[in-house]
Amino acid sequence: MDVIRIEGGRPLNGTVTVAGAKNAALPIFAATLLTEETCTIEQVPDLSDVRYMGEILRHLGAEVERPDPHTWKITARHIKGVAPYELVRKMRASVTLLGPLVGRLRHARVSLPGGCVIGPRPIDLHLKGLARLNCGIEIEKGYVDVDGSNLKGDYLYLGGRHGSTVTGTANMIMAAVLAPGITRIESAACEPEVVDLCDMLVKMGAQIENIGSHYLRITGVDKLHGCHHRIVPDRIEAGTFLIGGALSGGDVTVENVVPGHMRSLLDVFEQANVPFDADSDGRRITVFGSRKEPRKSIEIITLPHPGFPTDLQAQMCALMALTPGLSIITERIYPNRFMHVPELQRMGANIAIEGANAIVRGTESLSGAPVMASDLRASAALVIAGLAAEGETWVQRIYHLDRGYETMEVKLQELGAKIERLPESEMPSELKGE
Ligand code: EPU
Repeated sequence: MDVIRIEGGRPLNGTVTVAGAKNAALPIFAATLLTEETCTIEQVPDLSDVRYMGEILRHLGAEVERPDPHTWKITARHIKGVAPYELVRKMRASVTLLGPLVGRLRHARVSLPGGCVIGPRPIDLHLKGLARLNCGIEIEKGYVDVDGSNLKGDYLYLGGRHGSTVTGTANMIMAAVLAPGITRIESAACEPEVVDLCDMLVKMGAQIENIGSHYLRITGVDKLHGCHHRIVPDRIEAGTFLIGGALSGGDVTVENVVPGHMRSLLDVFEQANVPFDADSDGRRITVFGSRKEPRKSIEIITLPHPGFPTDLQAQMCALMALTPGLSIITERIYPNRFMHVPELQRMGANIAIEGANAIVRGTESLSGAPVMASDLRASAALVIAGLAAEGETWVQRIYHLDRGYETMEVKLQELGAKIERLPESEMPSELKGE
């Protein structure tokens, strides 16, 4: 296992190109199961989760080629509908196989994903939706068995306690595009990654109306065909680098972004007095941390898109930890998603958790420390906090980071950070956590 060592206190400066979005790539890979023809997917991020999804597709019988690290050609000519526990347990997003398997084969047997450190992650809405599409559902021995032999379009409502469901919406869309009749999905998630999936399905011949809204209307077709699709840029990676720039006191430009996907973060920057510029054609955003304008404390609430994304909440906790005053960050999607907080506290951050709120009292400095990554976005927050901290920070368990950020430490080195990836054996033993 590797660790990351950071010598903090150097501002990031320069330009970074954003990769394709992991959370778009995963359901899009699953969608290739909907046709027996070849789908060529470009701008695929080179990440462990994505490679793993490729493995799962291979296991299901698809031919998977990778002509270059960011292009995948997937042909699902003959596939089976069973995804076993040993494959599924490593990655929750494998639940997105349910929809396409039911659509294409009319049956699916997929192991239920286990627990997750960011909180309970039920799939009741996915199952409720499939039941509305006239599927029989049985749960036994840790598997969900879906009988889709009578699959047909219907009205379904996907709202839950925390809003809609991103992968649940993806699943319903993928089942409905090949379901006879019309499916109307109300309270659909409208995250850019869901829109990207719909765009690809339309290229494959699907009939989906009102894409990008909370109300989708899908007319089932008999067959879908192959396509070429380029994955949408990763708004969360872009946001992480912009927050990192502001936090380290440097000027960072992210290119290959879709500005419309970044509005909630830019609104928060405006409120917090973080200077930035989004260019007119909008593919680049620059944050000007070097201007040292005093930041203001703010209140942030995470919400479904177009609200502030939960996947940038941990990184904002790090930024507000070095922003004078009292900030309140409320987590509405995953009320327990605060595992980064005890680690940030070890670096000197003054943060209290009250229910689903992080109450962040800004301090003047953070101090480097050995810290433990617990999930993907928590890891990113610890890395960018380490860049701004005085002294040395060691981040353990960085396999979490590798699930969602392509060569993050290399991109940060190119921005001037002193950061390196080392085998854990090179970490001084007195600094190691369990
Ligand atoms: N929920 C239910 N029932 C369901 C499904 C969801 O109650 O059947 C609840 C969840 O417990 C949560 C909320 O609804 O409180 C939203 O969950 P959602 O289903 O939207 O999340 P997801 O689809 O499992 C995706 C991303 C997450 C991201 C969330 C929210 C993928 C592969 N994952 O998860 O990404 O945080 O949407 O935007 O797309 C990450 O990249 O670090 C990550 C966790």
